[in-house]
Parts: sequence; structure tokens; C-alpha cells
Amino acid sequence: MSKLSTRKILVTAALPYANGPIHLGHLVEYIQTDIWVRFQKLRGHQCIYICADDTHGTAISIRAQRENRSEEEVIAESQIAHQKDFVGFGIEFDNYGSTNSVENKQQCERIWGKIRAAGLVKEKEIEQLFDVEKGVFLADRFVTGTCPECKTPNQPGDNCSKCGETYSPADLIDPVSTLSGTKPEIRTAMHLFIELEQLHDFLRMWSQSGEHLQPEVANYLKGHFLGDPADKEGAKKLRDWDISRPAPYFGFEIPDSPGNYWYVWFDAPIGYIASTQQWCQANGEQLSDWWENDGAEIHHFIGKDITYFHTLFWPGMLKTAELSLPTKVHIHGFLTVNGEKMSKSKGTFVKAETYLKHVNPTALRYFYASKLGGRLDDIDLSFDEFVAKVNTDLVNKVVNLASRSAKFVKETGLSATYPDDGGLFQQAAAIGDEIADAYEQCDYNRAMRLILECADRANPFVEDAAPWVLKKDPDKAEELQNVCTIALNLFRQLMIYLAPVVPELAEMTAQLLGDRLDDWEKSKTPLVGTPVGKFKHMMKRIEPKDIQKMVDETQKEQEEAAAATESNALASKYNDSDQPMVDEPLAEECTIEDFVKVDLRVARVLKAEHVEDARKLLKLTLGLGGNHQRTVFAGIKAAYKPEELEGRLVVMVANLKPRKMKFGLSEGMVCASGPGGEEVFVLSPDQGAQPGQRVH
Ligand code: 2FM
Ligand code: ZN
Repeated sequence: MSKLSTRKILVTAALPYANGPIHLGHLVEYIQTDIWVRFQKLRGHQCIYICADDTHGTAISIRAQRENRSEEEVIAESQIAHQKDFVGFGIEFDNYGSTNSVENKQQCERIWGKIRAAGLVKEKEIEQLFDVEKGVFLADRFVTGTCPECKTPNQPGDNCSKCGETYSPADLIDPVSTLSGTKPEIRTAMHLFIELEQLHDFLRMWSQSGEHLQPEVANYLKGHFLGDPADKEGAKKLRDWDISRPAPYFGFEIPDSPGNYWYVWFDAPIGYIASTQQWCQANGEQLSDWWENDGAEIHHFIGKDITYFHTLFWPGMLKTAELSLPTKVHIHGFLTVNGEKMSKSKGTFVKAETYLKHVNPTALRYFYASKLGGRLDDIDLSFDEFVAKVNTDLVNKVVNLASRSAKFVKETGLSATYPDDGGLFQQAAAIGDEIADAYEQCDYNRAMRLILECADRANPFVEDAAPWVLKKDPDKAEELQNVCTIALNLFRQLMIYLAPVVPELAEMTAQLLGDRLDDWEKSKTPLVGTPVGKFKHMMKRIEPKDIQKMVDETQKEQEEAAAATESNALASKYNDSDQPMVDEPLAEECTIEDFVKVDLRVARVLKAEHVEDARKLLKLTLGLGGNHQRTVFAGIKAAYKPEELEGRLVVMVANLKPRKMKFGLSEGMVCASGPGGEEVFVLSPDQGAQPGQRVH
């Protein structure tokens, strides 16, 4: 086949939210996209894989508030964690940015200007629930209440799980803010809307023609939102899109609407452009060559839950801003585990980080590839099937070809000419285009089947030729070299085909054979007369016990998180900060014997006086009942006036060794908290306590 002309392809995967970790569900998309990008690169095209963290919105602010940190700290930590997970799974972005970047702000302003100029923006007053205690407008998911239709209690803010009715949170009966547990009030606020209906004809044309969308997606849009122009009855209007949120909101303030911020879904997809801009800056390229160029392709990979945003809002924004439209939006289904929705309590909601502690990432990449067919169906990760498939296909049928032959040609290298293999190599080379076509269509399931069929023909050859038997006969040295040359070439050819899916194994193969697997065309020509390196073990079998460990750990994480949420909920109504514990962590554990050595007593402040020349001290005369008295010099002058203390009960350390100070003898200590200076808080016993009583 002649070399294909080089395409210029920009690929994105959906930007993960910065408020949570990457899990196996996310990875369906990032792995799928990574495979497609690696495939395109292997075919010699210029292809860049662009992504970023999606950082704005209410959820991040709530988390930051709960953790008593700034939003910037939360998103910075999240970005590091996400990128570590992606590296762990061999997901290689050309640029990984953040929607909270200067580039994104700049692009948002540019696109907003165009949308305004096109007359698509209008202002509307809307009623929204407001949490008075927290001082924020409540997004739908932060409100629960009784369904206005069927009266079922504890329903979410947007639709009823019992009767399916959709409503606005303001319609709920007895609404409760999930942030504070208080009853929110209805307030009106001005929001900015984009009149999407003005783009109706364009969106119908774009979505219903060409191959921008999978056919089922185009049909869904027509049926639910766009209607059929030929059918007057079926005409539909696109709803105005609410793209602003009033302060306080973590995001970018809208330049021509002070006090209002772009809704997270406005600036998130613009993050694709901003992240490309960063890549261009780092690589000496022009952004316009990617986003304003009919010669460049743009491919978005997304999950089916965010179809609306990427097939209506986003093309509408791009069109208005005179930027390139997506060549294709590739939409995939969700992940189920063992035939069910991922479940935290069953330990199947597995975080990327937890998986990586127990199981080989290459296995998941291969398994997902074997399941993905380029359609919207959900894919199932059945653990039994996962173990069986990876062990049978990758370990037994592919890697075994190398492990059973490489060691016998370490001294000799490969034969000088490619021996007669009965047509095996040519047969596999001949279906290269079909495999490539399957990759191109994201039908990895078909690609894997075709590749494994080649492996199924290669294995009996090695089985019959039995190099381990030939090795024992010195007269068969040449035959041994030829057999291993064939086996290793068939293996290499498979690994070129599989390289987008299992890059780590492809890299090991390159090391073994001293030749990079960096060009699809190399699958057409056998390698001859070259040295063979020392064979290193490539991949262990997946053990069910490791899967079990991963599930157990996930369950444990879930239990710990649930316990933390419960105690957080208890503490949250008091809004207590954890700063004091951060400033001064707990001291080393002590025993009860240690504790009782300290004799704490209730004492009455009989007299409190200034001490001449002392900047910080007050002199306290403390009564322990009857004639028992102690004099204590306490560093509380900045916080208390003497008259505020006289007559009060306090707690004192009564058996502290007396200490001679410049101003006199101090015979104990008064218990107080706080960092010092004006912030000192003397402890008081409850009413009824008697001076002299011991504090236990
Ligand atoms: O659904 C999500 O996880 C979003 N954070 C995806 C954003 S994709 C793009 F539009 F930015
Ligand atoms: Zn209901």
C-alpha cells in the first residue's frame, strides 16, 4: 500500500471534573481515545491529543469550603492526581491544561464577544433557591424536597425518581438545601441566556448531514430537540441556554456583566481550544491552523450523558465564533461492572489509583479495546471474563509467541532471509488495511478479533515446529533459527497491530528486536538478519485474587469515605474550621497514669491585677475553697481586663512546680486555649462547680 497522505487531526476527550478522582468508568473514554490517537500517529498522521481539567462551578467551591482550602488549592491537587492516573494507564496527552487558565479566559472572552455581536444573548430574571446560611444560589443537585406531582419525599431538585416528573427546584414542596440542611428561600436573579433557537436551522443541517454524528445520535437529536422541518406538527423550539451564574461562583467573571460568571458548561468546551493554544505555544504552531482551518480535523470523544452539550451548544458556539466545527463527535456508552451499574458498596466503583495498585493497566486497555465497537452501547467489565480474556489472548496467544522463541536466537539473531512460513506473514499483512479500517471506525472489537485470528494461525505453527525440541538437536540449529525468525516476526507483526492498545508491550518488543514499532507499514516487511536481545518477561497472568484485593480495597475506601461524610455532616452545621488542628497537631499519646499526674482544679479568681512593667502578664489570686489560695502569673493581659476575671471560676493546674519569675512566685497555671495575644480563651467550668474540685 502506498503511504497515505498526512492528515492533521486534533482529538479531545471530555475534560474530567476537578472535584473527583478518575475511575474505571472515566477510563473507557480516555483509553478509547488514546488508542485512536496512537493509531493515527502510527499511521504517520499529525495527530494531537488535547485535554484539561474542568475546574469551575459550585461543586469545587463546596469542596474547598468543606476542606477549608481555596478552590485553587483543590484544583491544583486534583490536576496532579489526574495526570498521575493517566500516566499510570499509558494515556499520553499532547497537552493537558486547565479551564482555569489565562488562555481559557482569553478564549472565553473572544468567543463571548462574537456571540454577543451575533445578537444571541438575552437577559432574563429567574427565580432560584438561595441558601441563606451558606450565602449561595443552589444548583439543582443541592436541593431535595417533596415531589410536587406524586408527593414522594426526598426527591432531587430537578426530577422525581418515583414518578419521573421534571420540575424546577423552586417547585419542590418543603425544599431543603443539602449544603446546610436549612430551608432555602426563593430569590430572583438576572441570568444571561443564549438563544439557541436562532441557530436551529444551522444545527439541523450540521447534525443531520455528513458524518459528524453516529446515526443513532443524529436521530435522537432530530426526535427530541430539532424536529423534522418537513413535519409542521413535529416542529420543535430549542430552549434558551442559561449560561451565567451570579456571584459567588468559582469561574470567570463575564466582562460586560459584572457580578455574573460564565456557567461551567460555557467555559469547559472552550478549554479544548485553550489547551490547544498551550500546545501551539510550546510547539511553535498557530492556533488558527487547528481551529480555523478546513484542512484540520477535529474529533471529540465523549460519553452519551453529555451529548446535548457537544452536539448542540458547542457546534452553535463554534459556528457563531467562526471557528472550525467538529469533524466528528464520537459518543460511547457507560461502563457496567459484572453486569450492573458501578457500585460503591459492592466495591466495583474502582478508582484508577486503586486499580493500579493491584492489576496491570495493559490488561484493562486490552479488555476495553476488545469490548468497544464504536457504538453507544454500554460496555460490561465482567471480572471473570476480564481475567479469562486477558490471560487467553494477550498472555497465552500473543506474548507466548515471543517467550517460546526469543531465547533460542539470542546468540544467532534472526535468519538472514525470511524463511518459508507457509504464507502466514503475508496473510496477516494482507488484512492490515481491514484492521486499520476497524481502528479508524473505533470498532476496536473487530480490530482485536482480526488480530487474534492472526495469532490463532501463528500459534499452531510454533506448537508444531517446537523450537524447544529443535534446541536439543545440534544438527537442527539452522531450522531452529528459521522457526524462531518466523515466530518472532509473526509476534512483531501482531505487536505493530496491537501497539495503539498495548504500548507498553510494543515498547518491550522494540527493545527485544532492536527496532521501534513506530510505523504501521512495518507490519508488511519481516525483520531479518538483526540481533535479538535478552528476553525479559513481558506480562504476568492476571490472578483473580488480585481483582479481589482491588474490590476489597475499594469497599474499604467507600466505608471510610461514608464515615467521614457522616462526621463531616455532623460538624458542618457548626462551620468549625480544622485550622487549629492543622496549626497544632495532636501530641503523642499518653497513658491515664500520665494524665492523673496533672492535678487540675476548679478555682475562683479572687483578685486580678496588672503587674508593673509586665507587658503580657496579669497577677491572679486563685481560691481553691476555704483558705487555700495560689498566686499565678498568666499571659492573658491582651485578652482580658482584670475586672472581667474577678469572681469567675477557672480551671488551673494546681500541682505545677512553683516557678520563680521576675515579678514573684507563680504557683500554677490557668487553663486557656487559643494562639495567644488577644486570642486567649480562659476555660470556665459549668455552673455548680465548686472551687477546689478536681477536674478528671
Ligand atoms: O461531564 C463531565 O465530566 C464534564 N466535566 C465534561 C466537560 S467536557 C468539555 F466540554 F469540556
Ligand atoms: Zn413524583
